[in-house]
Amino acid sequence: MSAIDIRDLIVRRGGRAILDDVSLTIGAGAFVALVGPSGSGKTTLLKSINRLIAADEGAVLIDGRDTAAVPLPVLRHGIGYVIQSIGLFPHLTVAENINLVPKLTGSSEDRAAELLELVSLPAEMAVRYPRELSGGQQQRVGVARALAARPGLMLMDEPFGALDPITREELGRAYRALHGRLGLTTIMVTHDLGEALLLADRIVVLIEGRVRADAAPAALRQSDDPEVRALVETPLAQARRLAAL
Ligand SMILES: Nc1ncnc2c1ncn2[C@@H]1O[C@H](COP(=O)(O)OP(=O)(O)OP(=O)(O)O)[C@@H](O)[C@H]1O
Ligand SMILES: [Mg+2]
Repeated sequence: MSAIDIRDLIVRRGGRAILDDVSLTIGAGAFVALVGPSGSGKTTLLKSINRLIAADEGAVLIDGRDTAAVPLPVLRHGIGYVIQSIGLFPHLTVAENINLVPKLTGSSEDRAAELLELVSLPAEMAVRYPRELSGGQQQRVGVARALAARPGLMLMDEPFGALDPITREELGRAYRALHGRLGLTTIMVTHDLGEALLLADRIVVLIEGRVRADAAPAALRQSDDPEVRALVETPLAQARRLAAL
């Protein structure tokens, strides 16, 4: 479980601020959904937390410590990261992919079977290579791999994007339960507002590199920002239309 304090973060690339003075305080154990249009800076924000990207200004504190002062291996060990493009190593089996991070830090523990079960994949997939898995199965291995080093913080960039709606719903719920059981803090990027509203305690809306809203799902509907309200109203209107079929 990790508390995060993002202070006045600015990331400039190509002559403009792609993160423009972002401040957020996320309590230990929170489940935050990060939403916003394509190109609004969501991936950049996740990468500034685990220092895959260096911020130009501002700071990120985890449990009160400035991450800039934490050695990278130590920092990354405490953070599970599920990247947008999955990023499994093609020449390693599923089990080797999962055990990679703990192994890098000297652990010989094989957690593949246990973690595959956690993401509802059969244990026999451990010996397969990523190319022998469907996109959605690969995505679940990506989640299992991010959990392997027993992180306190999970950064997930569209972790369920390649899944059919039923598996997506199941895995979303299963992950949410896991988040509670393992005492994680989670920041999850999603383009599915319905998923965000149903899973998260809190929704942060990023638009053009700025935090435009930061509220509990129900409170977001009352936002005085029309763009934010529209974001919430779309899935709700869809749900009403579906219910009326
Ligand atoms: N190195 C870079 N140089 C210039 N611009 C960059 C660089 N990296 C990212 N950007 C731009 O910064 C903006 C934010 O990118 P980012 O990947 O954070 O968006 P995102 O919200 O994750 O979008 P998506 O939902 O499509 O994944 C984009 O407009 C992107 O083109
Ligand atoms: Mg992105």
